[in-house]
Amino acid sequence: MARDWSPASWRDKAVGQMPDYPDPAALAKVEAKLAGYPPLVFAGEARELKARLAAVAEGRAFLLQGGDCAESFAEFSPDNIRDTLRVLLQMAVVLTFGAALPVIKLGRMAGQFAKPRSTATEQIDGRELPSYRGDIVNGLEFEESARLPDPERQIQAYAQAAATLNLLRAFTDGGYAALTRVHSWNLGFVEQSPQGERYRDFANRITEAVAFMQACGVSEDNTPEIKRTSFYTSHEALLLGFEQAMTRVDSTSGLWYDTSAHLVWVGERTRDLHGAHVEFCRGIANPIGVKVGPQADPDELLRLCDRLNPMNEAGRLTVICRMGHDQVEPRLPALIRAVKREGKKVVWTCDPMHGNTIKSSSGFKTRPFDRILAEVRNFFMVHKAEGTHGGGVHIEMTGRDVTECTGGAQAITDEGLADRYHTHCDPRLNAQQSLELAFLIAAELKEERQALRAVAT
Ligand code: PEP
Ligand code: CO
Repeated sequence: MARDWSPASWRDKAVGQMPDYPDPAALAKVEAKLAGYPPLVFAGEARELKARLAAVAEGRAFLLQGGDCAESFAEFSPDNIRDTLRVLLQMAVVLTFGAALPVIKLGRMAGQFAKPRSTATEQIDGRELPSYRGDIVNGLEFEESARLPDPERQIQAYAQAAATLNLLRAFTDGGYAALTRVHSWNLGFVEQSPQGERYRDFANRITEAVAFMQACGVSEDNTPEIKRTSFYTSHEALLLGFEQAMTRVDSTSGLWYDTSAHLVWVGERTRDLHGAHVEFCRGIANPIGVKVGPQADPDELLRLCDRLNPMNEAGRLTVICRMGHDQVEPRLPALIRAVKREGKKVVWTCDPMHGNTIKSSSGFKTRPFDRILAEVRNFFMVHKAEGTHGGGVHIEMTGRDVTECTGGAQAITDEGLADRYHTHCDPRLNAQQSLELAFLIAAELKEERQALRAVAT
């Protein structure tokens, strides 16, 4: 266990990105209440995820992490949860085929509520109000009453996370995710698109392969993996009072686990080595992520590895690179070389979203799809050149037919963004764009596999 650490030790450190609650006593009451609520995930599940991530670190698996930028109370519905899951399942089978590796499915779901902001306040038409910090903190509407941080929202976020997780568990355990149902995951509005057609061809091949395996005696009854899949949850560990309230000692190992999600990560804006967020995360035994942007220098990353993963365990630390499409080539190699030189065990994953956010001519925050693709391609290219495993992707997406990122096969234009722009925070890939991205990554992974085979023979 980490020395000089407790679930509350972050409170003695400098803490950024925290809301200013007007009534600290009401906040303390909510935190005490949450501390008595049941855990959302079990320590044993977090350990299982860590073991699977260790396989990614060693080049034997791939990580698919995706979901909303910010979950919201308004978008909470069983259909939305199902549709996001469907797209993640589709992406996962496409990737499994391409990589010929197990794909670990990790949702930015069931708890991804708190958001870091670049400014503490927002001004519209000369009026200044506190910035929106995610539904777990305050409301999106530009009104004083909505923007005032309200601790009771943490209780609602907990309830929504619990219900979301319950549905995800039912879907992934109860037969919906069975490989015999790959066709049914294609969403109605995607079916007629080029990506939908491509997916259908692909699903036909899987169906044939499954039928072949069944003929050979491999069935749902003797091979549970055909019928069920593991699905894990994750979010940014930003609102530390909430995370502390969810942190409990695991009776099996005697270690502290943050039971709000299987994996939590430290954001680009809060990864100060001596700050509160790194302090909190270093002491919990869950697998941890850390975002690194183009400004990160190799020594800084090495110090973060030491602090967050002092035992240098494979699977403990995932480095989520979010450089921007044109910063991967100049910035990433130095980070990889330093980590390799010092023998640090990490999972390398690519977030092609957060370094590619721009303001469109129509005024919307957006991300051009071709830059997202370019960042992913560059990430794999650099890993290939360095001889390391590009271990995963981290994306903001939804199963809904939104128009938030420009481009893709639907050629969403700047003007078209207004049609169905629903995000509470950053622009997400829609279902078709997500599938298109999965096909591209699958092709990259297949190339990596062929290159490795060529070296081996
Ligand atoms: C996010 O993942 O939504 C986010 C805010 O990312 P980053 O910390 O990389 O900016
Ligand atoms: Co985001």
